Amino acid sequence: MQTFVTRDEITNWRKQLARDQKKLGFVPTMGALHDGHLSLVKKASEENDAVLVSIFVNPKQFNQQADLQAYPRMLDADIALLRALPNVVIFAPNEAEMYPTGLAFEPMQLGEIGTVLEGAKRPGHFDGVVHVVHHLFALIAPDRAYFGEKDFQQLAVIRKLNEHYQFGIEIIACPTKRDPDGLAMSSRNLRLSANERNNALSIFKALTLIKENAGKLPIDAVRNQAIQIIEEAGLMIDYLEIVDPRSLKICQSWQQIQLCCVAAFCGEVRLIDNMLCESVKLP
Ligand code: PAF
Repeated sequence: MQTFVTRDEITNWRKQLARDQKKLGFVPTMGALHDGHLSLVKKASEENDAVLVSIFVNPKQFNQQADLQAYPRMLDADIALLRALPNVVIFAPNEAEMYPTGLAFEPMQLGEIGTVLEGAKRPGHFDGVVHVVHHLFALIAPDRAYFGEKDFQQLAVIRKLNEHYQFGIEIIACPTKRDPDGLAMSSRNLRLSANERNNALSIFKALTLIKENAGKLPIDAVRNQAIQIIEEAGLMIDYLEIVDPRSLKICQSWQQIQLCCVAAFCGEVRLIDNMLCESVKLP
């Protein structure tokens, strides 16, 4: 399996693809790959002639050093997982290669979409995401790029980035993959003890409660019940909000469709999840 580590290797490979008029799908990751990532890679593989998966733990998007240090890194296992998939190559640069001295980057204003929810709780996080994805898009120039809906706000930020810098890449949103008991797949789940993992299921239970009661009971009452489910399981909520999926503004009352977003600490591990829910039409 081809594993590139330098920008030059990528540039040469990309030029050859263009000469051969091959379509390129791109899946950016920070490694510690799970079935959620693999579902993006499989989709990219079905829809393109070649797929590039980047694996780079981006220090610029971590607002806490301890979180960066604890982030799982397992490149050999990641390569072994991807080896089974057709037409996939890997780009696993080091930091100097990702951010070479003198490489121009003009930061963009994210506006409100970058300052609510994750943006409010993790200052600088989205600036770091924009920085690395800008460099990756500029270097790789994919036809399509694949992102998971678990990071719903990140997806909105990426769409804005794509427009702002005029990359013209087709951004494909892929549904959140869950374990059979509902826990959203995340590389961070590897850090949970068995007991913590069990407690973390409260996030899915809370989101499901909101989904089942949207439009039926007052929005504040439903939100409070959801908070209670998570807190009773011993997690510390960072935020739990019911928002408009387009603007990410908090909903004061039920709309036709809303997005419930949660971030909560399960022990040391910060987990995020979300669920779209339509208001049930009352007879
Ligand atoms: O979603 C992620 O894993 C990261 O934020 C991304 C898009 C790979 C950028 O580092």
